[in-house]
Amino acid sequence: LNNGLALTPQMGWNSWNFFACNINETVIKETADALISTGLADLGYDYVNIDDCWSALTRNSKGQLVPDPKTFLSGIKAIADYVHGKGLKLGIYSDAGIFTCQVRPGSIFHENDDAELFASWGVDYLKYDNCFNLGIKPKERYPPMRDALNATGRAIFYSLCEWGVDDPALWAGKVGNSWRTTDDINDSWASMTSIADLNDKWAAYAGPGGWNDPDMLEVGNGGMTYQEYRAHFSIWALMKAPLLIGCDVRNLTAETFEILSNKEVIAVNQDPLGVQGRKVQVTGTDDCRQVWAGPLTGHRLAVGLWNRCSKAATITVAWGALGLESSTSVSVRDLWKHEDVSGDAVASFSARVDVHSCEMYIFTPLTVSHYEV
Ligand code: DGJ
Repeated sequence: LNNGLALTPQMGWNSWNFFACNINETVIKETADALISTGLADLGYDYVNIDDCWSALTRNSKGQLVPDPKTFLSGIKAIADYVHGKGLKLGIYSDAGIFTCQVRPGSIFHENDDAELFASWGVDYLKYDNCFNLGIKPKERYPPMRDALNATGRAIFYSLCEWGVDDPALWAGKVGNSWRTTDDINDSWASMTSIADLNDKWAAYAGPGGWNDPDMLEVGNGGMTYQEYRAHFSIWALMKAPLLIGCDVRNLTAETFEILSNKEVIAVNQDPLGVQGRKVQVTGTDDCRQVWAGPLTGHRLAVGLWNRCSKAATITVAWGALGLESSTSVSVRDLWKHEDVSGDAVASFSARVDVHSCEMYIFTPLTVSHYEV
């Protein structure tokens, strides 16, 4: 969507994956505090996004949405002011149907009033869900809120949460700043890997202004190993997915922090070229030795060697899979070890990769092939 936002994928935090409906204004404010005190805000995580369950069960007598008086007594404007005071941005949630998934009032047929209200509160981001949608196609239900947000005159990031229904990559580029390509993620290896594969199909449609959204991060929620979370974060970064933290940032373990704060991996995600990396080579039983890669600025390449086999494996990437001539020499930077791999690579590169881990690299070609200018 050409609204000046999302030149790179959005980064921040969202309440749903960890807290679900157990949210209140204290949790949101403490999360904003924690994003600052941990340094994650400085690394780019600047949206604090409230998901479902912030609203009361009914609209007020004027037909307006009302924050739940038990949990958000001070109101959303007060939270927006608090978050803005820390240099962060506030996101809110509604639904392109008559109710949200947790049966709070939805915004269909109230788009203009609700967008106005969100803007008056100082909201910077709207996630727009897909429950209770009356069987109307997403293509018809999502544009009215785009127009309503646009009419407020406030820059509001528009995140479509249509769960991949009706292949949004094909139409949502003009509607939203990101669109979900799949159903909800859950905190498991099976879910994370299958979502990565589904999202890969739509790589060609992502770019500055509009991104494929394979759903929020589960890193730190406990259902995957350290290596699996590292792979989750690496592949989401390389696929130019939104990097929305989904754990409790008030209580980060050292390992979770190490993953989420990897500057070099974040820089791959936020590279201004904005081209989604893809699965470019598969070998081994069930194609479990995988190479994912995509171009970065400066003729560089982001390369992930992802071991989805049931034990440690050596993965070799051949230059042909990366679109490089085999004579090209390449310097290799390891983004998890934070060091340059010694000696330049020619024709191919191999590494031993732990079970379910993903080694991440930046390849910088040192010789430019004759056909590249
Ligand atoms: C479905 C969405 O896909 C989730 O991300 C979350 O927003 C829930 N609804 C909330 O009810």
